[in-house]
Amino acid sequence: MAQPGTMDKLVSLCKRRGFVFQSSEIYGGLGSVWDYGPLGTELKRNIKDRWWHAMVRARDDIEGLDAAILMHPKVWEASGHVAGFTDPLVDCKTCKARFRADQLATAQCPQKPSKHPGEHTTCELTEPRQFNLMFKTFMGPVEESASVVYLRPETAQGIYVNYLNVLQSSRQKIPFGIAQIGKAFRNEITPGNFIFRTREFEQMEMQYFVRPGDDAEWFERWRTLRMAWHQELGLTPDKLRWHQHADKELAHYARAAYDIEYEFPFGWQEIEGVHNRGSYDLTNHQNASGKKLEYFDQAANARYIPEIVETSAGADRVTLTVLVDAYREEEVEGETRTVLGLNPAIAPIKAAVLPLVNKDAMPEMATALFNDLRTRFACFYDDGGAIGRRYRRMDEVGTPFCLTVDGQSAEDQKVTVRHRDTMGQERVSIDQVAAYLRERL
Ligand code: GAP
Repeated sequence: MAQPGTMDKLVSLCKRRGFVFQSSEIYGGLGSVWDYGPLGTELKRNIKDRWWHAMVRARDDIEGLDAAILMHPKVWEASGHVAGFTDPLVDCKTCKARFRADQLATAQCPQKPSKHPGEHTTCELTEPRQFNLMFKTFMGPVEESASVVYLRPETAQGIYVNYLNVLQSSRQKIPFGIAQIGKAFRNEITPGNFIFRTREFEQMEMQYFVRPGDDAEWFERWRTLRMAWHQELGLTPDKLRWHQHADKELAHYARAAYDIEYEFPFGWQEIEGVHNRGSYDLTNHQNASGKKLEYFDQAANARYIPEIVETSAGADRVTLTVLVDAYREEEVEGETRTVLGLNPAIAPIKAAVLPLVNKDAMPEMATALFNDLRTRFACFYDDGGAIGRRYRRMDEVGTPFCLTVDGQSAEDQKVTVRHRDTMGQERVSIDQVAAYLRERL
């Protein structure tokens, strides 16, 4: 279970073991932008693959899409993001710091951290101003307002503007969905908590198109399915809950919204949103583009703009969640053992192959086993140091199985399988190891 101080330990483990690095670290880092190292890349990829499998491959009614990050600027006017995707900001004229007007009560005054902004004698706060969170850039060689484009703040709009393309090319019928995984960008004012809130992040979003009036029913179905997905990831059930958005919390596009929240060491926070967006987006795109975005429902002999239920999870947030949930420390024989008890299916390394010592044909046997297994599983070969140390190194990065080739292996053609969570050991025939792993992953 995560204890106070867990975040600091986790951030340090993530750097030391190659999960997550600060972006541009040699230049002092870039605020709230992070890079994934070798193990973090595998972990996040496994999470995204699992989502893709559940949402696209395992279903007949959802198609995949990979839309571009840059879109026509009119998309963001029609979607309401140019006018409405804003946070209210205040500046302090004295210390030049910037705060969210609605979070002053929890922010610290940089000059006197025991006080909130505005409470110190020298604070001079401006009136709140609306600050748009979209990153702007320019397309083409001229930096003028006519060439402004935005880095998308959500992947959803790429789905809406392609909905008829996907519908026609896939021959789906309503109800059906379109899923996408991709980068999104937000110029967050109060980012933080490691990879929890960043300025560049990845979303795993699915938009489900339904007949008008069926939205409430599908909203409930998707709520159930998405909570089950997080539970099946292996997250502690008591640390997951729903948060229903009150009217004043609802995003500009939402009719109703629930967040799936996880209890992080820094409090309960959203990891996924399930939104009933009604016909807001397609209606606005139809009006702004002048292109009909209606669906002809043959069964009902009716033409309508579908309503949309959206499920929107952050790949980086889910990655942080599984890391926090998996992190634990235990006392073993007077030493602290650090374990990432990750669900084996998403662990970055599934099995480590370890020759007990570097002699007596053990390295040759271990190498042959490693070369065979690596064609099917993410494996790691380690022949450096005492076996206990090697086990600990694998525990710390969440490797569920260590396969040790020892002196007896040449005689009985078996290896010792050592389990990360129980530290229990058993002998398994070398020719059965692949099947053994497949069954457990
Ligand atoms: N299309 C709807 C949408 O974007 P959202 O609630 O703003 O809804 C959905 O974001 C999810 O995207 C969040 O639950 C979170 O997991 C992730 N997300 C949003 N902003 C993020 C940020 N600044 N850093 C990391 N993840 C973020």
